Amino acid sequence: MATSLSLLLPLFFLSLSLSQALTPKCSTLDHGSTLQVLHVNSPCSPFKSREPLSWQENVVQMQGKDQARLQYLASLVAGKSWVPIASGRQIVQSPTYIVRARVGTPPQALLMAVDTSNDAAWVPCSGCLGCAATVFDSAKSESFKGLGCQDAQCKQVPNPTCDGSACSFNMTYGGSTVAANLSQDTITLANDSVPAYTFGCIQKTTGTSVPPQGLLGLGRGPLSLLSQTQSLYQSTFSYCLPSFKSINFSGSLRLGPIGQPIRIKYTQLLKNPRRSSLYYVNMIGIRVGRRVADIPPTSLAFNPTTGAGTVIDSGTVFTRLVQPAYLAVRDEFRRRVEAEYRKRVGANATVSSLGGFDTCYTVPIVAPIITFMFDGMNMTLPRDNFLIHSTAGSTTCLAMAAAPDNVNSVLNVIANMQQQNHRILFDVPNSRLGVAREPCT
Ligand SMILES: *[C@@H]1O[C@H](CO)[C@@H](O)[C@H](O)[C@H]1NC(C)=O
Ligand SMILES: *[C@@H]1O[C@H](CO)[C@@H](O)[C@H](O)[C@H]1NC(C)=O
Ligand SMILES: *[C@@H]1O[C@H](CO)[C@@H](O)[C@H](O)[C@H]1NC(C)=O
Ligand SMILES: *[C@@H]1O[C@H](CO)[C@@H](O)[C@H](O)[C@H]1NC(C)=O
Ligand SMILES: *[C@@H]1O[C@H](CO)[C@@H](O)[C@H](O)[C@H]1NC(C)=O
Ligand SMILES: *[C@@H]1O[C@H](CO)[C@@H](O)[C@H](O)[C@H]1NC(C)=O
Repeated sequence: MATSLSLLLPLFFLSLSLSQALTPKCSTLDHGSTLQVLHVNSPCSPFKSREPLSWQENVVQMQGKDQARLQYLASLVAGKSWVPIASGRQIVQSPTYIVRARVGTPPQALLMAVDTSNDAAWVPCSGCLGCAATVFDSAKSESFKGLGCQDAQCKQVPNPTCDGSACSFNMTYGGSTVAANLSQDTITLANDSVPAYTFGCIQKTTGTSVPPQGLLGLGRGPLSLLSQTQSLYQSTFSYCLPSFKSINFSGSLRLGPIGQPIRIKYTQLLKNPRRSSLYYVNMIGIRVGRRVADIPPTSLAFNPTTGAGTVIDSGTVFTRLVQPAYLAVRDEFRRRVEAEYRKRVGANATVSSLGGFDTCYTVPIVAPIITFMFDGMNMTLPRDNFLIHSTAGSTTCLAMAAAPDNVNSVLNVIANMQQQNHRILFDVPNSRLGVAREPCT
């Protein structure tokens, strides 16, 4: 399976559109401090595959990207700055959701991937060698400024180098490298202008790991959007991620405390001092139907020393649990489904697998409801958030998996499919995460 996945992924990247232009009907919904969130495969997204993929190809592809993402998150937790990926050909970032930003004066429109587990912002800049899409022309912006080695921000990037006086830095992502100049320019998000926003202006990339979009890191570290907009947004934002099944695919990213929901349930946000950009929460159990799955408490426990625990992430598609937790949930799910089927039909429902999903059925099933239990809050998932159905309706899978074998992971990741059609509020000043149902399609 691993081999066929790594073969599939480069093909996917070759099929991306190189143009970033949005069609006019897709570009009108940003207002105030609220940005329209698009799925990367949305009809409005220039990054959607040109060739429509079959359902099965789509699922396998998203899982493949998740696999690489999990390795990336695990490496963050382990405190490494690079990601060991055997094949060197996989995509480390899987930017599932994108927003529209404008950079420079006069503003140049570009699309940026929303990533809650990353602090950095990077923009592919004109003249970039190896970028899939060159979008930002710094020479055409009056407000563009390259940062020098003497600038304070230069001390916040990993391994800065001083070529002449410019502050440059190199990063490694999987088999790829990124060389960027630390730069500043005005970024305009919906109706808000952020002057002198610091980002990496990508000059060169090698390999195929780097996403063609810019990246808008919504983590909490020193150079993230939150840190750079303290007075404007007060480290508060929320999003509602649209279902990738929906035709319109339009959700929203609301920046700042204004207009956030009042009626919302909260759980505490935890901070791992070694990886302060990740949003940890305290998940204490998972209910399947009426029964709480028999998960060993150590599989869920937060441990700032090892990085173990649960994070909420916008970039992973399918929730991944450490193996003992996943097995407990899966076994309880199978028991329920199969018992119900036996009772209703008088025959056995046979379990099968698809890609990395090991709990699929080719007969019509009635699935139990799944609830993520957090400290102080239960999040009961609509069935569409944990079941994936083939287009023809003949196969249904439980859309979660164990952490991949080759990732020595201690991390549970609540992924974006499970967050769809909920407003997720990141209230950093009050150290809390809010969750409320909201249809965003
Ligand atoms: C947009 O921003 C301008 C300047 O800050 C402000 O005057 C205007 O009221 C804003 N419009 C909306 C719809 O928020
Ligand atoms: C990036 O930095 C290099 C020197 O390290 C310089 O030659 C180049 O012009 C810079 N590019 C931009 C867009 O500032
Ligand atoms: C960073 O990358 C550039 C371009 O690939 C290369 O010329 C330079 O030597 C690299 N610097 C370091 C410190 O690796
Ligand atoms: C898509 O949006 C249009 C209006 O923008 C609406 O009329 C239509 O029902 C939506 N379709 C779906 C499938 O949500
Ligand atoms: C269903 O499976 C059970 C064991 O899991 C077996 O004893 C039983 O014979 C099977 N029934 C049918 C109809 O295949
Ligand atoms: C969550 O659900 C569990 C099990 O049903 C229940 O015991 C608990 O009180 C609920 N917690 C909250 C905060 O509602």
